[in-house]
Amino acid sequence: MTSLAGRHAIVTAGPTIEAIDPVRFLSNRSSGRQGYAIAEALADLGASVTLVSGPTCLDAPSGVTRLDVESARDMLAAVVAKLPADIFIAVAAVADWRPARAADRKSDKAGQTTLQLVENPDILRHVAGLEQPRRPGLVIGFAAETHDVLDRARAKRLRKGCDWIVANDVSGDAMGGNENAAILITSETETAWPRASKSRIAEQLAVAVSRHLAKA
Ligand code: C5P
Repeated sequence: MTSLAGRHAIVTAGPTIEAIDPVRFLSNRSSGRQGYAIAEALADLGASVTLVSGPTCLDAPSGVTRLDVESARDMLAAVVAKLPADIFIAVAAVADWRPARAADRKSDKAGQTTLQLVENPDILRHVAGLEQPRRPGLVIGFAAETHDVLDRARAKRLRKGCDWIVANDVSGDAMGGNENAAILITSETETAWPRASKSRIAEQLAVAVSRHLAKA
């Protein structure tokens, strides 16, 4: 088995939460399980792993350094602060939008009923677009799709500028569940991994990463 000893990997995982006011937020259904499993699989191959995690109910895998963040902007800042890295894997379900203004006091129920949103930074695209040597040698994104999974994932790989993308169909129970089925898309190959535990998917990805870096 190829080792990742001496390599630094940064993995994002979980949802982000975007404050509306001190007690309310916008978020999504991500459990963080797939990202945590990937962090663990990379560490098992000997990588030094920084897991930048939104709020989840999970314990940090042993041997992994976890940084807890809440918002997309915090996640981006934490990732950038931990560069350089050899490997960046964006597994987090980052909220696409955040409230334009987070109130510093609990908003009144009788108040405004329209929430104005602004777009969050795209962490994957930001890291993929960095100049060498800041850019990690291998940048991997996830494409969780409910339809046209392959076509949308192929387009996403190009749009985000990442090297690989892992396509997964979340029309069933993948989001929040314990299993996933995925297709690894690189510039040269597409490899389908049949439905399996998120740990098994993570092991397959970690092995693919280690083989690739061993060749590079
Ligand atoms: O555009 P979409 O959210 O489907 O892209 C998914 C991929 O992009 C995932 O790898 C996710 O972690 C990453 N992403 C990100 N920052 C965002 C949105 C998505 O890093 N603001």
